[in-house]
Amino acid sequence: MASLTFFESGIRKELPDNSGIKEVCEEAGIPFGCKDGLCGTCLITVIEGKENLSPRNDKENDLLGPAGEERLACQCILKQGNVTIKY
Ligand code: FES
Repeated sequence: MASLTFFESGIRKELPDNSGIKEVCEEAGIPFGCKDGLCGTCLITVIEGKENLSPRNDKENDLLGPAGEERLACQCILKQGNVTIKY
């Protein structure tokens, strides 16, 4: 079981390994537009555990640049362990 923690609220949601985080982020109030890595509204910052997320994909690199702690929540897969994010 993996988990996603929201830095602002401290709320921690458990998810099966290798799950998308879109639904739990949406429930937490993160806005989503395209849900396809194009609009950037679902921007999050990874505070802890970035190694537990899928690597940045081409859509994220195109929109966000080559490096950094920012991710698009609609593109992230939570592989295992805990990841803490803020938005
Ligand atoms: S919802 Fe548009 S980039 Fe994620």
